[in-house]
Amino acid sequence: MLKLNLADLGQYSDVVHTRRGEAVTLRFVTPGDADELQAYVRGLSSGSRYKRFLGAMSELPKTVLDDFTHTGRDDRFSLVASMSGDDVERIVGEARYAFHSEDDSVEFGLSVQDRWHGHGIGPALLQNLECRAAALGAISMFGDTLRSNDVMIRLAKKSGYLFRQHPDDWKLVRFEKQIGAGADRSCASLRLVVSNSADRMQAR
Ligand SMILES: CC(C)(COP(=O)(O)OP(=O)(O)OC[C@H]1O[C@@H](n2cnc3c(N)ncnc32)[C@H](O)[C@@H]1OP(=O)(O)O)[C@@H](O)C(=O)NCCC(=O)NCCS
Repeated sequence: MLKLNLADLGQYSDVVHTRRGEAVTLRFVTPGDADELQAYVRGLSSGSRYKRFLGAMSELPKTVLDDFTHTGRDDRFSLVASMSGDDVERIVGEARYAFHSEDDSVEFGLSVQDRWHGHGIGPALLQNLECRAAALGAISMFGDTLRSNDVMIRLAKKSGYLFRQHPDDWKLVRFEKQIGAGADRSCASLRLVVSNSADRMQAR
């Protein structure tokens, strides 16, 4: 499993693109992002917040915000997707994922700012998450969404996820995917895993 260097989280950043080619930076959240991340969550439409957090809430509770901004705590990781304009970086999406060591799976949830829906950021973020999960040594990914969340369901289907009933909640559906050889390999995290293991081989 990739052991994160918490003192240099920037090395795990990636750049992906919207369908129109605009650059979107995906990077781990740091404690300094707390206010901006909270503003992003508050700025989501109530419908998007409900779909993302599976319940009504206007903002992240303080303890949850604290967890979100401490990347790696309890094998949980938060990413922000940001775009630059007028020399200002703005958060346009986020994702959170957790590594479950008992079955080497990664569970995730994600959102994109409403005004950026339909630009391909969600699929790019999902593909990147799969690569990051592979770097952690995961063999599968899964997420839960409301049965009524047609957009997420379509996105997961297009990305090769299979669906099954949620184990505990009839309102939700669970989507899962094996992420072996087919996983996207183009994230910094996976490149670091490959080069670190090559260094170890050479040192032997
Ligand atoms: C689900 C979600 C992450 C998808 O991200 P996205 O970046 O909008 O994904 P896409 O760009 O592929 O667009 C998804 C679909 O919406 C359509 N769309 C186009 N313009 C749109 C607009 N202005 N507003 C909303 N959807 C639009 C797209 O055409 C696409 O349709 P398709 O599936 O037929 O291709 C995003 O809708 C979101 O944040 N939803 C709220 C939170 C949520 O549901 N999270 C999932 C919990 S796991």
